[in-house]
Amino acid sequence: MTIVPSSLDNDSCDTAIRASFLHFKFDPDKSSNAHEYLDDGLLILKQGRVKMLVDAAGWIDHLPDGTDFYDYSGRLVMPGFIDTHTHYPQTEMIASYGLQLLDWLEQYTYPTEAKFIEREYADKVAEFFCDEMLRNGTTTSAVFATVHSVSVDAIFEAAQSRDLCLIAGKVMMDRNAPANLCDDTQESYRQSSELIKRWHLKGRSHYAVTPRFAPCCSPQQLELCGQLLDENPDLYLQSHVAENLDEVRWVSELFPQSRSYLDVYDSFGLLGPRSIYAHCIHLDEWDRERMAASGAAIAFCPTSNLFLGSGSFSLDATRRHGIRVGIATDVGAGTSFSMLQTLNEAYKLCQMRRQSLTSLKAFYLVTLGAAESLYLDHSIGNFDIGKEADFVVIDLQATVLMQKRMESASSLEERLFALMMLGDDRCIQATHVMGRRRYSRDS
Ligand code: GUN
Ligand code: ZN
Repeated sequence: MTIVPSSLDNDSCDTAIRASFLHFKFDPDKSSNAHEYLDDGLLILKQGRVKMLVDAAGWIDHLPDGTDFYDYSGRLVMPGFIDTHTHYPQTEMIASYGLQLLDWLEQYTYPTEAKFIEREYADKVAEFFCDEMLRNGTTTSAVFATVHSVSVDAIFEAAQSRDLCLIAGKVMMDRNAPANLCDDTQESYRQSSELIKRWHLKGRSHYAVTPRFAPCCSPQQLELCGQLLDENPDLYLQSHVAENLDEVRWVSELFPQSRSYLDVYDSFGLLGPRSIYAHCIHLDEWDRERMAASGAAIAFCPTSNLFLGSGSFSLDATRRHGIRVGIATDVGAGTSFSMLQTLNEAYKLCQMRRQSLTSLKAFYLVTLGAAESLYLDHSIGNFDIGKEADFVVIDLQATVLMQKRMESASSLEERLFALMMLGDDRCIQATHVMGRRRYSRDS
């Protein structure tokens, strides 16, 4: 049915945004009509949800009186970026010099995370972290807290006060870590249960059972993680796997009966839809088959993998096996909050392996692709009717160099590629969450 302009009234529209729009309907690897681009478009919203996306001409003069109108003409609007793995407590230790994973955890990460025993401290960092998400156009994140319950309360509260969509959970670790960060195993289960009741599916908050990684979790604790998943519908599970070769070797010593690192999690029932595994660098073909068949997702963390010298992830292997994948900042091993900078390094890692990452695929991966991998595409990821209106307003001319480069970028793909290579937080003019402007660069 074609809707005629006269059908717009206050019952169907309370907010309208004029800009260029880009969003994805499908995976560009699978369809030549994957994206929709409107050079001069109008996004019409009602109560924070998409009503329609149309050409501005023909509609702009028919907005009902009292419509909240944002004129971003000349700017590019995309769905809000989705970060599939990060650690808010590591914000203040980002860019700490010089070590690989296991030493880096001991020297920098654990001492920093110990500070989150204090609620006040956790609140300050959580507030900063959520503001940084908005400053970078990220409207959904899957986030690790620390072992402390108060650190979970802090991040969910900070996200809720900004209406951000958040997946988060209490880190569970009961061995091979400093005593002040080690859980009592049963207590970690009890605290997680309590946090699930408090936060899971409250507004835009989703709880993730969060065993840090197999070396820090006893078999009993991993079993209790499986129990939490069995007892509570639609929970997420987030962890790390196969990031670093010393870590992989350690896991084979701790769990000699398991076929592989991934198999440790699998044997405790921790592999399924809504499981998110960061890194997945050192997997074999059997592991990849299990990832695909289980419906779990990989969080590809390019800046972190380079920073810690962990190895090079194969994006083509995920394509070959049909595994769900998203891109992730992995702050503080990752070196940027910007999904643009993160795509920059993802592209270069692909280049090192002679694999492709086109600009269209890249922006699909940080929007609809991530939403699909997290099973959130019914509510976010593009501008389909009824979806939650999270979006980022991008200034393609934000720097002198970008202005110069854009002069000779004739196609959309070229401009997007220059954006992901040269862009960062300076390009984010505004970020809207559920339709409402929550960040503006210029004010
Ligand atoms: N493996 C276990 N914990 C961590 C962490 O905090 N960061 C990274 N990059 N890998 C991990
Ligand atoms: Zn991580």
